Amino acid sequence: MSDPSQLPYGGAGDSEAGGETSLAPRFRRHADSLARSHRSPLYVRLMRAAADDLATGGVVAKLFDGVATPPGSVPQLRLLAALHHLVLAGEAPALAAFYPSVGGTQPPEEVWPATRVTVLEHFDWLRGRVARTVQTNEPGRSAVLYPALLWLTARHGRPIRLLEIGASAGLNLQADRYAYRVGPLTLGDPASPLEFVEPWAPPPPVDLASAAAALHIAARAGCDLAPLDPSRPDDQLTLLSYIWPDELDRIDRLRAALSVAARDPVRVAPAPASEWLPTAIDAAGERDLVVVWHSVMRQYVDAEEWAAIEAVLCARPHVIRLSMEPSRDDPLGRQRLSLQEHPDAAEITLARAGDHGLPISWEAAP
Ligand SMILES: C[S@@+](CC[C@H](N)C(=O)[O-])C[C@H]1O[C@@H](n2cnc3c(N)ncnc32)[C@H](O)[C@@H]1O
Repeated sequence: MSDPSQLPYGGAGDSEAGGETSLAPRFRRHADSLARSHRSPLYVRLMRAAADDLATGGVVAKLFDGVATPPGSVPQLRLLAALHHLVLAGEAPALAAFYPSVGGTQPPEEVWPATRVTVLEHFDWLRGRVARTVQTNEPGRSAVLYPALLWLTARHGRPIRLLEIGASAGLNLQADRYAYRVGPLTLGDPASPLEFVEPWAPPPPVDLASAAAALHIAARAGCDLAPLDPSRPDDQLTLLSYIWPDELDRIDRLRAALSVAARDPVRVAPAPASEWLPTAIDAAGERDLVVVWHSVMRQYVDAEEWAAIEAVLCARPHVIRLSMEPSRDDPLGRQRLSLQEHPDAAEITLARAGDHGLPISWEAAP
């Protein structure tokens, strides 16, 4: 799998951008996809207006001039996160009036003039920011990872060494520290400030209460090219900036996950996955079930690095690979939760999920 154009990418098909010389169609495609799914009217408007600007060589075109934007890198989300960061930091008051995340109530239809002024005012800072990769750390994806850990516990009954590549701030490494309410049961940590209510329909076909009681994460660690530190105010702001400003429930979820991280931080090493994995895997105890997990990371990794990651994992056939990534094989365009228990074994689909986790529908048989 070395040709990036053959890979399933998220960001509303941003990988299909291979032959395009302009960014405008990528922004438009993403806006259309959001509009179809009735999400984020503010971002639909901003992406469409930015696309018009790009097509006519305006301020956004100048912002991206000379910036590398390979297929799948979703430059539209880089721009929108940078603008949201300014809003959250109180540095773009005119724009803030349109952002529900800071109490703005102005209709999105009129957002572009204030955006253009903001881009001009903060041009140099924004130019640096749009060159940074997207680092959304979505704790909603824990509701995808956690049932997979229950499934593996029911199957193997061994302590898990959980290793995440592309972990951002590591908020999904604490999946078992969130609460999951399923019928009369509360799984995970019942006292957690982050709670998922009936997250699975259908749920994984295992005895959930016994699997949750038996789940033991003996060690957890992650790596990222540039980890964000959930205890640093500036990194918290960056994490919030990747959440769409009119999706307030996601903002609450992120804040709750940050408070969990503050109590018991998980280390995310600053390293490329191919370099970090060998030591992280080889330090496992004899009984440990080593699980390497990634979510919405694949599209941001270049072909050479991905081949190096594959080589590390193929050389360690005892490692279980678990991932939540976009896939092309689902008519609803949902993410696929995949499991591969051995390099020679077929990858199986455990579940389908939304971009940010919910809704999650389990597919694999017992
Ligand atoms: C979109 S974020 C997803 C973060 C997290 N997995 C989640 O789902 O919330 C992708 C992350 O992968 C990281 N990344 C990209 N290439 C990497 C590599 N070769 N090694 C480690 N991390 C990488 C990026 O820095 C970024 O933080």
